Amino acid sequence: MNIITCKTAQDAGIAAATLFAGQVIQKPNAVLGLATGGTVEPVYEELIRLYKEGFLSFEETTTFNLDEYVGLSAEHDQSYRYFMQNKLFDHVDIVSENTHVPNGMASDLALECASYEAAINAAGGIDMQLLGVGPNGHIAFNEPSDVFENDTNVVSLTQSTIEANKRFFSNADANLVPRQALTMGIGTIMRAKKLVMVITGENKREVTKAFLESAITPQLPISVLKLHQNVTVVLDKAAAGK
Ligand code: GLP
Repeated sequence: MNIITCKTAQDAGIAAATLFAGQVIQKPNAVLGLATGGTVEPVYEELIRLYKEGFLSFEETTTFNLDEYVGLSAEHDQSYRYFMQNKLFDHVDIVSENTHVPNGMASDLALECASYEAAINAAGGIDMQLLGVGPNGHIAFNEPSDVFENDTNVVSLTQSTIEANKRFFSNADANLVPRQALTMGIGTIMRAKKLVMVITGENKREVTKAFLESAITPQLPISVLKLHQNVTVVLDKAAAGK
């Protein structure tokens, strides 16, 4: 496991974006796994900058996002599809058909999950996966549990995740936050060839410490990353603590 500690969250974003830029330069038709959340916004800002300055093209890349809320359409400003359009896709030369986010409006959610997993496999698997972490150690929407889920699946969100994510919903009403989501499984994430985990902010210090010190357990989903052969963890000083 490589650990990079940066001064600020912005610098951590730039460091992670640089790894993704390297991946795309090395393999222009790379399959990128993408994530949402406040932590990864600086990553996308830097990728957009690199694109606009002519260093990078996403024309041949394919992307798969980690997760999506059940019941939110692409037009809903809290859907992860909306986030991705807004924060990255609309600002670079990526081909829209090559961007994938699970469809939280699918009438058959189990079928949507199976199709999503199949599409990742058909694309040849994910070359580099971007990850953030929830305060309770969840990755994508894999919540603390008794087992590591393998493939893309439907999950019920824990109260703490609903609380953590309600800040993005208008008037911060926790009742507006969906109770379910579609998420890549731990297996889906672990099958990516390279993982880049970004953890920033003081409110992630405790989970960072737990991650570094804990045994591997599905009660702390992020702990599984220690088993991956190619994982880079990018921290800022606030998350790293001492
Ligand atoms: C959501 C997403 C996760 C993300 C987490 C942290 O729960 N499903 O993939 O890692 O938020 O978000 P933030 O970066 O805003 O703390």
